[in-house]
Amino acid sequence: PFEQSLRPQLLSQYIGQDKIKHNLEIFIEAAKMRNESLDHCLLYGPPGLGKTTLAAVIANEMNVQMRMTSGPAIERPGDLAAIVSSLEPGDVLFIDEIHRLNRSIEEVLYPAMEDFCLDIVVGKGPSARSVRLDLPPFTLIGATTRAGALSAPLRDRFGVLLRLDFYDEEALTSIVARSAELFNASIDHESAGEIARRARGTPRIANRLLKRVRDYAQVRGNGHISIDIAKEALELLQVDPRGLDHIDYKLITAMIERFRGGPVGLDTIAASIGEESTTIEDVYEPYLLQIGFIQRSPRGRIVTTLAYDHFGIPLPIERIDQ
Ligand code: ADE
Repeated sequence: PFEQSLRPQLLSQYIGQDKIKHNLEIFIEAAKMRNESLDHCLLYGPPGLGKTTLAAVIANEMNVQMRMTSGPAIERPGDLAAIVSSLEPGDVLFIDEIHRLNRSIEEVLYPAMEDFCLDIVVGKGPSARSVRLDLPPFTLIGATTRAGALSAPLRDRFGVLLRLDFYDEEALTSIVARSAELFNASIDHESAGEIARRARGTPRIANRLLKRVRDYAQVRGNGHISIDIAKEALELLQVDPRGLDHIDYKLITAMIERFRGGPVGLDTIAASIGEESTTIEDVYEPYLLQIGFIQRSPRGRIVTTLAYDHFGIPLPIERIDQ
C-alpha cells in the first residue's frame, strides 16, 4: 500500500542511523558468506525511528521472507509454535513490542533462539508429555521502545544490539525530500528543512507532516510546497518551531504551574495531566530529554531554563541564579 511504498527496501536507501547501517552491512555480508542465518537482533529506541523498516530491510538484504508479529499478540506457547514452525530456513521473525511478551512465552523462545527447537507440552494431567520440534534456523528481530524492560535472559540471547537514535536535521531533510519525490509532491530544500526541524527527530512524524503540508499546498496554494505555505500549514497543525505539540505543552506547563518546575515524579505528572506514565516515558519524554527541555534526577523530572525560555514563562524566583 501507499505507506509501505515510502519505506526503503535496501540499506543503501535507508537514510541516517549510519553506525547501525555500517555494522549491519558487515554482519549481513559475513552471514551470507558463511551461508548462515543472521544472528538474532534487538532494535530499540523511541517510536517512529524505523525499527520495523530496518527489520524489513535486513530481511530483504538477506534475501529471506519476514514474518511479523508482536509481543501482546502471542498469548499462548501454541501461538508462537504456529508461527516459528511455518518459517523457511533463514527467515526473519519480527516481534514488535517484544518487552510485552509474557514470561511463559519467553521460556519457549529461549531454546528456539539458542538451539532452533521448541519443547511443547501436549496433553493434560498424567498423560501430558513434552515433544521436541526442530525448527529451521531463523533470525529473530525484536523491537522495543524500552530495552530495560526486557528480562536479562532474553536480552542476553540477542547477538546484535542496535540502538536507534533521533535523526539529525540533515538526515530528516533528506527523508522529507525523498518522500516528497516518491509521491510527486513539489517542495524546495528550505521547506523540507522546515518540516524536518519540526519533526522531533522522527521520520514517521516528518512523513506525516509532509502529507498534511501537501494537502494544505494543494487546497490553499498551487500545489507547490513553498516556505510560506509550509509555515502556514504547520502553524495550523499546531506544531511549534521546535516540533512540540499540545501534549508536550500540556506536560511542561503542568510541571511548571502545578509543581514549580519539579523535581516531580513521573506518576505524579501522569496523573495530573491524565496520560499513562508509560506513554509519557516512551513517547513524549525521550525527545524532551534529547533537546534538553527536561532533565531526570533521582527525585523526579525537572523543567530546564531552556524550556521556560521557549514557552516564554518567567523562572520562579528561587531559580533565577541557575
Ligand atoms: N522513510 C522513513 N524512514 C526512512 C529512512 N530512515 N530512510 C529513508 N526513508 C525513510
